[in-house]
Amino acid sequence: MKIRHLLLTAGVACCLLSCGTSSDNGKDSEMNRFISELMDKMTLKEKLGQLNLPSGGDMITGNVQNSPLAEAIRKEEIGGFFNVLGVEKIRELQRVAVEETRLKIPLIVGNDVIHGYKTIFPIPLAMSCSWDTAAVARAASIAAKEASADGICWTFSPMVDVARDARWGRIAEGNGEDPYLGAQLTRAYVKGYQGDNLQKSDSSVMACVKHFAFYGASESGRDYNIADMSRIRMYNEFMEPYRAAVEAGAGSVMSSFNTVDGVPATANKWLLTDLLRKEWGFDGLLVTDYNSIGEMNTHGVAPLKEASARALNAGTDMDMVSYGFLNTLEESLKEGKVTEARIDEACRRVLEMKYKLGLFDDPYKYCKPERARNELFTDENRSEARRIAAETFVLLKNEGGTLPLKREGRIALIGPMGDARNNMCGMWSATCDPERHVTPLDGLRSAAGDQAEIVYAKGSNIYYDERTEKGAVGTRPLQRGDNKALLEEALRVARGADVIVAALGEAADMSGESASRTDIRIPDAQRDLLKALKETGKPIVLLLFTGRPLDLTWEEDNLPAILNVWFAGSETGDAVADMLFGKTVPSGKLSTTFPRSVGQVPIYYSQVNTGRPDPNPDEFNRYQSNYLDERNDGLYPFGYGLSYTTFEYGEMSLNQTTMPKGGSLKVTVPLKNTGEYDGAEIVQLYIHDRYADIARPVKELKGFQRVFLKKGESRDVTFTLTAEDLKYYNSELTYGYDPGEFEVMIGPNSRDVQKKTFNAD
Ligand code: BGC
Repeated sequence: MKIRHLLLTAGVACCLLSCGTSSDNGKDSEMNRFISELMDKMTLKEKLGQLNLPSGGDMITGNVQNSPLAEAIRKEEIGGFFNVLGVEKIRELQRVAVEETRLKIPLIVGNDVIHGYKTIFPIPLAMSCSWDTAAVARAASIAAKEASADGICWTFSPMVDVARDARWGRIAEGNGEDPYLGAQLTRAYVKGYQGDNLQKSDSSVMACVKHFAFYGASESGRDYNIADMSRIRMYNEFMEPYRAAVEAGAGSVMSSFNTVDGVPATANKWLLTDLLRKEWGFDGLLVTDYNSIGEMNTHGVAPLKEASARALNAGTDMDMVSYGFLNTLEESLKEGKVTEARIDEACRRVLEMKYKLGLFDDPYKYCKPERARNELFTDENRSEARRIAAETFVLLKNEGGTLPLKREGRIALIGPMGDARNNMCGMWSATCDPERHVTPLDGLRSAAGDQAEIVYAKGSNIYYDERTEKGAVGTRPLQRGDNKALLEEALRVARGADVIVAALGEAADMSGESASRTDIRIPDAQRDLLKALKETGKPIVLLLFTGRPLDLTWEEDNLPAILNVWFAGSETGDAVADMLFGKTVPSGKLSTTFPRSVGQVPIYYSQVNTGRPDPNPDEFNRYQSNYLDERNDGLYPFGYGLSYTTFEYGEMSLNQTTMPKGGSLKVTVPLKNTGEYDGAEIVQLYIHDRYADIARPVKELKGFQRVFLKKGESRDVTFTLTAEDLKYYNSELTYGYDPGEFEVMIGPNSRDVQKKTFNAD
């Protein structure tokens, strides 16, 4: 083993982090003084009220003033609420808080603004395929602007759980499988939501990074399941995005539903206090997930009263929905199970959040009805959503230049997603108005004008089985039809066309929360539709809708072109038409591996080698780490995505063969656009530590650049590596690197890389 360059053991790393929220400058002491004075006046009951976060459930109809929420506010039993929509209602509730209560403390108003508010952007998994931090920050800032115009000051986003299991529906909500890419995008989200001056601006909202922690590793891909892993794995593979959010100054963190080391995250002191607070220096607000204190009862860990005390003692500040803090902590205090100091600390964090949001300066800061009238779903926001959507589409296959389509002849759009207006946005888009969204049928028709004829047939239901389909499309129903009649109609339409665009895949509700699947293929009725369409002999473009990586083995073998558009938001139809007709050029690259079969998941490119790596992927090798019936690698690797143009990578070079201690190394690769279109390429850099204290991944992403080149243009793309890029947590959880030999790889995806070696002093 090499001698390690020192570094820090996990528990003492906090001093190196510059946590955006923790500096004790003049402004902070002003805040502290203000809050101390306020808290001196507060009764215990009022303090506990601040820790309570109920859901409005948007149930308030009619008179807001007489709603149960307004009653709770008058009784000073809540610190804020979420799930109430509409600036007028929210303004009225805020008025009750600041005019009809003793201390006039304003409320925080949360919502799951996950990928847009009225203008909906692509789902986060899609956004991560843009590898474009500026686009992510821009989308987040537009989402913040719209939400804050409608009364909301706090979003339960970004969701940064590293996820490698396509069965898990919530893979759709995050940044994919890689901690490095995830961390870069996380910073962009936080910056986009919170802006530069949260306290002064009325167009930013506070971010809430979630779900802390390791929710993405839900066992078997089943939602809400346990997530159990070694510390080494936590630190090296799952932690980075959460930590990046804290470093970027995220004002709040939400704990996760799963257990960590057996203890529900909500009450895991190591996680919430030792790691998050002490090691990382997080000093913002820590809120639970929905009723997760209450769920400690069903976890079989503790009934509500004890669960509440444990959650508080572990470091939780605010209780979402379970009412345990409000109703049981007073008794626990009397019994000595919790301290007043800890209640005060939690209350202080809630009040600090209100202060940081500028609510004490102006409680109606986010309640300006004229903003709600003028700033939602604007043309400008929609055109940004359309532009950004194009960056998230991933061209998986394009044989013989099937795409882009020519604007001529007759194009058959076939499939249940071709005109499914309420299914374009994917999960977490309850705030939008689907009737205003553009479907592929609308988009293609308006783009084709009178140059090409667009004919449409639904072709099939999502599933054959109505019960299965009900689960999948439950809240956004698609009209059902007779499968046989739908198929006949589709074949008739297809036979008369020059080319088929098959718009199918998952319905919007088939990914996201509580949407795990054990079969990750396109649903049965649509697979049969595709097979029948193939029999027509017409060229087929699969326009794929999905919130997770799917097993596309049949489609890859049988169709000439596959464009994966995920769920692209309110402008889906126009963005799709732009790309199908070549007005935009694909540049998205996968942030998750697409498996060949569900049997391979969890699957990810940065696997750790076994002592028996597979010597030949084309055959089964006994006593090596491989499968009898399948290759080890995915169908489409992490980082993969084609374009209408082509890029040629020249030979990479290093400016020196050794990275000096404290120095850096430059890695350069010439890149040329050799095709017929202007386009962007995402150049990726990976490293591999040849020998380390622990077995290390065969490849780890350590850099990427989105490079736009006009056709025929070339450019040298240079990356600078430093010791930071070589560090990891070793068997003693010491953070550092092992001097010695490293490999550096560059390529258009994680599979097709060229390699050079260097030494690190
Ligand atoms: C989800 C969270 C969400 C919360 C509030 C929970 O069920 O896990 O991601 O923020 O509900 O809506």
